[in-house]
Amino acid sequence: MKIGIDQIGLATPAFYLDLVELAKARGDDPDKYTIGIGQDEQAVAPSSQDVVTLGASAADFLSQADRDELGLIVVGTETGVDASKASALYIHALLGLNPWCRAIEIKEACYGGTAALMMARDYVAAHPTKKALVIAADIARYGLNSGGEVTQGAGAIAMLITAQPRLLAIHDDAVVKSGSIMDFWRPVYTDLAIAKGKYSTEQYLAFFQATWQRYSAETGHGVGDFEALCFHLPYTKMGLKALKTVLPEVDEPKQAALMANFEASCRYSRRIGNIYTGSLYLGLLSLLESNPHLQAGALIGLFSYGSGAVGEFFSAEVQPEFNEQLHPAAHQQRLTSRRRLSVAEYEAVFADKVPYAAADYHADPAYFAGSFVLTDVIGQQRQYRRL
Ligand code: HMG
Repeated sequence: MKIGIDQIGLATPAFYLDLVELAKARGDDPDKYTIGIGQDEQAVAPSSQDVVTLGASAADFLSQADRDELGLIVVGTETGVDASKASALYIHALLGLNPWCRAIEIKEACYGGTAALMMARDYVAAHPTKKALVIAADIARYGLNSGGEVTQGAGAIAMLITAQPRLLAIHDDAVVKSGSIMDFWRPVYTDLAIAKGKYSTEQYLAFFQATWQRYSAETGHGVGDFEALCFHLPYTKMGLKALKTVLPEVDEPKQAALMANFEASCRYSRRIGNIYTGSLYLGLLSLLESNPHLQAGALIGLFSYGSGAVGEFFSAEVQPEFNEQLHPAAHQQRLTSRRRLSVAEYEAVFADKVPYAAADYHADPAYFAGSFVLTDVIGQQRQYRRL
């Protein structure tokens, strides 16, 4: 029985920052951002957007039948809104999902989305008539003027996991490696991540090499067997660095084909930035919606990395009905209709956040946009509504 992704939804805030403008404001060469880092734009989340509103918006495609057949809702995030209550429960309420399901949140940095996907895959394998909703949602914040500022972003990917999926079958061939390191983390008292930038990039590459080599040895697959390789994209240059370590394993025409598909996988990330848990799947969606030559049966390799750290390599196969499951025009429209913020406005939006304090908070209605918003925090309870 095939199990995998039947549908994918994308959400990202209605505001963005042009990174050429940010480079100029920070006294950097814009080429460093657009070429050296490989990012053009960055989604900016006002305080009325969080992983609940973005996650609910990404999953708003569910039909009534899907909602009724859900047995599991799992949110992978490292930007949770509560240390105890799962964001999946807020989303469950906003979307009016059936009560007869498990609703939970899962965490391991950017790897949380993959952990959720694999849990959902196993769940459907055990309960083939049921469906599982996986949401990978995050807001990446490193701080104004910080080393990581150019690699911020915000968004969510929602995936409906079913038996006999119409988009992608996820193979049961994952190789996963875990080891405790301090390359990136976020203490519970702050919304700003701490990153050892260079060390984190070295560890990303080391985890990729380790999992790829073991995967290749276990499955007999070589780079040449894959139509495309998708990577966790904290910034697109990171994925490129990883891809370049394995390109020498194939001839030049195959290298060019893999490069073209890699570029297709970067299109959305270049405009949205790092969405942590969802970044690998944003890249996957970008590949599927940007390459008109992709055929059913194509084998795609996926590398997931979450700092701290866990790395996983696995494969997926494009299904015959995949084209009908995609929405490239709608996603393009969503990106082009966003409002561009000046650097000064971005800085003001960045500073206006739900405080780590008990006082009531009211989000600025001037930035209410999207399908769902957080309106207030009253008596330490978050208030949401559909717009
Ligand atoms: P930095 O010090 O600003 O940049 O840090 P740099 O000096 O290393 O330069 C970056 C690249 O730009 C270099 O290219 C330069 O040569 C080039 P590279 O050598 O890497 O190929 N460059 C230029 N290119 C063209 N024209 C120019 C120019 N100037 C320089 N004029 C860094 C960059 C990404 C480290 C920083 O932004 C950062 O710390 N980001 C956050 C951490 C991060 O994203 N790490 C990635 C791996 S860890 C991960 O993926 C997990 C994560 O998603 C979190 C999670 O799991 O939850 C982060």
